Amino acid sequence: MTDEMLEKARKNAADNGYTSVEFRKGDVEERIPVEENSVDVVISNCVINLTTDKVKTFREIYRILKPNGIGRMVISDLVTDKQIAEDISLIDPDKWCSCIDGALTKENYIDSIKNGGFDIVEVLDEKLYTEGDQVENRKITSLVIKAVKQ
Ligand SMILES: C[S@@+](CC[C@H](N)C(=O)[O-])C[C@H]1O[C@@H](n2cnc3c(N)ncnc32)[C@H](O)[C@@H]1O
Repeated sequence: MTDEMLEKARKNAADNGYTSVEFRKGDVEERIPVEENSVDVVISNCVINLTTDKVKTFREIYRILKPNGIGRMVISDLVTDKQIAEDISLIDPDKWCSCIDGALTKENYIDSIKNGGFDIVEVLDEKLYTEGDQVENRKITSLVIKAVKQ
């Protein structure tokens, strides 16, 4: 995330009179700049896929959510049937940035959420994103997942 992106977001909010939003800069993998046990809902679309350590990221989301079944996340991301993220030599930076080469298998993605602390994990939606030569005959699927902090 760049400072220019934040400036643009703040300008758009001000120009449109959105007074109840705030933009904070942080690395979701290292530390989300939000107090622990304070958040009702985390939403995310195709961001966690870009992180290098998904479990660390889910732990950080778990940390900021309210406990006792109140805090939950609803996220969408891409997963693959043939994961290549373990072998760095096979990673194409452009494909990583397109959310393809950093994709985990569905099983590993869900395990990462559980290893991040979440017990209740539910797949809300699943659809084919792309497959074929462009992605070395991998099948890329879009998932929408809900997880609750107990
Ligand atoms: C594919 S874009 C998705 C953007 C937006 N969610 C959407 O749906 O249009 C990925 C975004 O993830 C952000 N991102 C990637 N890694 C991140 C990290 N470790 N911490 C915070 N943001 C990150 C990037 O800055 C980028 O804005």
